[in-house]
Amino acid sequence: MTKRIKRIGVMTSGGDSPGMNAAIRAVARACAYYRVECFGFMRGFQGMIEGDYIELNARSVRNIINLGGTVLKSARSKEFLTEEGREKAAAHLKKANIDAMILIGGDGTFRGGKILSEEHNIPVIGVPGTIDNDIFGTHYTIGYDTALNTVIDAVDKIRDTASSHNRLFFVEVMGRDAGFIALNSGIGAGAEEILIPEEDLGLDRLLNSLERSRRSGKTSSIVIVSEGDKIGKNVFELAAYVKDNLPYYDAKVTVLGHIQRGGSPTCFDRVLASRLCVKAVELALDGQQDIMVGMMNNEIKAIELVNALKSKPTINKELLRISDILSV
Ligand code: F6P
Repeated sequence: MTKRIKRIGVMTSGGDSPGMNAAIRAVARACAYYRVECFGFMRGFQGMIEGDYIELNARSVRNIINLGGTVLKSARSKEFLTEEGREKAAAHLKKANIDAMILIGGDGTFRGGKILSEEHNIPVIGVPGTIDNDIFGTHYTIGYDTALNTVIDAVDKIRDTASSHNRLFFVEVMGRDAGFIALNSGIGAGAEEILIPEEDLGLDRLLNSLERSRRSGKTSSIVIVSEGDKIGKNVFELAAYVKDNLPYYDAKVTVLGHIQRGGSPTCFDRVLASRLCVKAVELALDGQQDIMVGMMNNEIKAIELVNALKSKPTINKELLRISDILSV
């Protein structure tokens, strides 16, 4: 017989993402609805290690659905990578009588959860929260949509000045090793070229494409560079290389950086966070563990955490074709 779940813990970990607060709110409210207690752990695994947690009730998560960042704070805990660190974390969870933990974060967070469950038999449920959208088992991660819209907004502004000065702009976006942000924002922002780690464009093709653009009458251009792309690894060197080879281009670089992680979440991210977290609580109450909830084709589904960690989602190559056609 499965143990009755009376107390659920929740934390946010790794890089924060817009919508994490909507997720925390949904966990706390679903717990209140089902009459179980809810505790929020501060700064991800680090708060577990230090026993730093607070009780969350339906009212303590009021007015946060619209806020970027995470009220529980986030961290990438080095101590949790050690056995002693994880022992301390598990001891605090047991002392606090936590029956299941809901972990909101990316693959690093899920790897931590999996090992915590294996070593200390703590039931965990993962909820994908990262701007990178690089989690297998969900078509969308919490924060990705907001980050895309932040990039679009920034690139629209860059386009204004690029066009006034007839300039070429290289805009670096986040994504770690994944090109989802670059590919989708690149199409949405009407970029000339999109450089992503999943597809090696090569320097020659980039130069040819820029030269062709120039000949076809374009006076300014935007190239979106994913931070993990091979040829764009150092976007400043890339811009210098292009300037050397195509001297008629006045090339500039903008690194968007952490603005992509902040801001009020879009409606899409708030709804996604709400749906994923209500499901996470319901599955925890049902005694399920070591799973991740995701949204596939607009349906909320759970997969084994090990499977979520085994693979990486693939980019949609059709989007590359669309981008090629539209940058004619
Ligand atoms: O995983 C989210 C992310 O923003 C990545 O896109 C980026 O590579 C990384 O985190 C940056 O991490 P930090 O904020 O620790 O510098």
